[in-house]
Amino acid sequence: MSHILVTGGAGFIGANFVLDWLREDGADAVVNVDKLTYAGNLESLASLKCSNRHIFSQTDICDRAALDRLFAEYRPRAVVHFAAESHVDRSIEGPGGFIQTNVVGTFTLLEAARAYWSGLHGSERDVFRFLHVSTDEVFGSLQPSDPAFTETTAFAPNSPYSASKAAADHLVRAYYHTYGLPVLTTNCSNNYGPYHFPEKLIPLVLMKALAGEPLPVYGDGLNVRDWLYVGDHCAAVRAVLAKGRVGETYNVGGNNTKTNLDVVHTLCGLLDELRPKVTGSYRQQITFVADRPGHDRRYAVDSRKLQVELGWTCKETFETGLRKTVQWHLENQSWVSNVMSGLYRKGRDECHAG
Ligand code: NAD
Ligand code: DAU
Repeated sequence: MSHILVTGGAGFIGANFVLDWLREDGADAVVNVDKLTYAGNLESLASLKCSNRHIFSQTDICDRAALDRLFAEYRPRAVVHFAAESHVDRSIEGPGGFIQTNVVGTFTLLEAARAYWSGLHGSERDVFRFLHVSTDEVFGSLQPSDPAFTETTAFAPNSPYSASKAAADHLVRAYYHTYGLPVLTTNCSNNYGPYHFPEKLIPLVLMKALAGEPLPVYGDGLNVRDWLYVGDHCAAVRAVLAKGRVGETYNVGGNNTKTNLDVVHTLCGLLDELRPKVTGSYRQQITFVADRPGHDRRYAVDSRKLQVELGWTCKETFETGLRKTVQWHLENQSWVSNVMSGLYRKGRDECHAG
């Protein structure tokens, strides 16, 4: 059986990617390498319990010896690297862990991949790929009239999180130019969808709305983000892995730029329809709170390269994707409440142990 090695596959996007990948008949088995930080949740992968195509290893990407063992044992044909500390607010509170995982961890993974790839021959060596998943935040903040980020926009990261991701992107690039490691990089916008940890705007608002709590909107609520349904992002990663040109970067966006206030109002409207309150609207819970320090004002992503070169397009509009997300949230309250109570951290099943 052939394998791909996925890092961070118990996180929000990684879990969606693993689930989508394994839904396909005949797809390679997945070696899922995840440290299980607070953001890693094996309950998201419950449907794969005891699957022989999902091998879970609780491993830190900073642990070179463990990575070497995994490469030697499973001989993956590709690495898809999602593992990261990903929450901007946490990076402002404590940047150290972001430097460790996002920079040192990516470096350690690159070194392990390089050592493994250097020992490959023939077609095994030719097909090997290292796909690094990054963010649009490396490009910084746009003025209202600026064009959307393209792959050649200069990096200008503004938070410890985005600076650590930019550093990782530079390392990945350097491993291609210096050593010839066959790398690919994707820079995507704000994902949303199932299994989203409820510290990020969309799942946080849904959780707090249903709990009757204030819905915190930072600053004036007019910061703009581009929203991408996670399933569309996973399809883009698969397309880049299959057909992307080695050494290239690809932007992935949903072409759905919205102010945060628009997003919160839309969520409240969907909840008013799908789970009406006894009286009034969820909108009455919206509360403006202190702004995030260094808060980027506007992101927008130009994905034309990915569309033209690889034929990728989004399947979901913001309306269809958000409705699906709200429905998922309402139907999976136990997943959300296990995260909130901390129970999810106890649910590490033996079938997943690598
Ligand atoms: P997440 O925080 O939900 O999940 C991260 C996963 O990585 C968790 O399972 C965690 O346990 C694991 N992890 C953290 N440190 C690790 C380490 N040292 N070793 C091994 N595993 C470790 O993140 P996400 O939202 O799924 O994001 C995945 C990737 O996509 C990240 O690289 C992020 O920068 C990037 N990204 C995310 C978004 C978004 O909107 N969520 C947008 C653009 C890019
Ligand atoms: O752009 C891609 C990035 O999107 C990813 O690289 C990050 O990993 C991911 O977390 C996300 O970063 P953001 O900071 O944009 O996401 P977040 O959900 O934290 O915030 C979205 C917007 O909503 C942002 O402008 C801050 C605002 N916000 C957020 C929270 C948590 C609020 O107004 N209130 C909140 O409570």
